[in-house]
Amino acid sequence: MQRMKTYDVPHKGLRNALSQLSLLAGSTDYKNSAAVEKLCLLGRDVFSLLTVHAADENEVTLSELEKRCPGCSQHDVEDHENIHQTQDNLERLLADIHADVHAGKDASEKGDEFYLAFSEFHGVYLEHTAEEERVTQPLLWQHFTDEELAAHRGKIMGKLSPQVLLTWFKFVVPAQSPEERSALLSGFRKMAAEPFFREAMGVIEKVLSSEEYQFLQLNGTI
Ligand SMILES: [Fe+2]
Repeated sequence: MQRMKTYDVPHKGLRNALSQLSLLAGSTDYKNSAAVEKLCLLGRDVFSLLTVHAADENEVTLSELEKRCPGCSQHDVEDHENIHQTQDNLERLLADIHADVHAGKDASEKGDEFYLAFSEFHGVYLEHTAEEERVTQPLLWQHFTDEELAAHRGKIMGKLSPQVLLTWFKFVVPAQSPEERSALLSGFRKMAAEPFFREAMGVIEKVLSSEEYQFLQLNGTI
């Protein structure tokens, strides 16, 4: 029987987010303040999700794993520390670019550096998430039942503020298969108050194609 996958939903969303930021970092005109503003807004969303996600894994998934399998969380926790440092440098560089452009300076050279450094970071991050799915996931299956893994997810979801949840949805929802997307949003509908559910649908409509959105309406998900 198919076991519950801890990482599938968030990692698909993060891979989508990182790819979008990579594309925009390469196509931005670093002399144009409106273009840099757009990049910074996307950067803010993406980096904030990476920070929230690492904290969720450290505080819930890995901390629970460590209790049942001492030493098993160490590798991923160390990865998170290294990723955090590189991410911090990227965020600082992006803030620097933002300040330069708003002071009327050409930030093209710093923009080229941001694009390249971000690509290196992107590669490291993809490897990290794949390793969590190939190595850590089997350990989680070995030490926890699906009910326990679902409880970890519930604990993580319960910690998210409505604003952070909406930011997650922007990247997670378009990255799911139609079946996964319907299951995710049906679950959300059962838990959310109607006004918040409608607000979330407003966010989701902007990031799905009209066919994808209509499919959710036609199958009764939303
Ligand atoms: Fe991670």
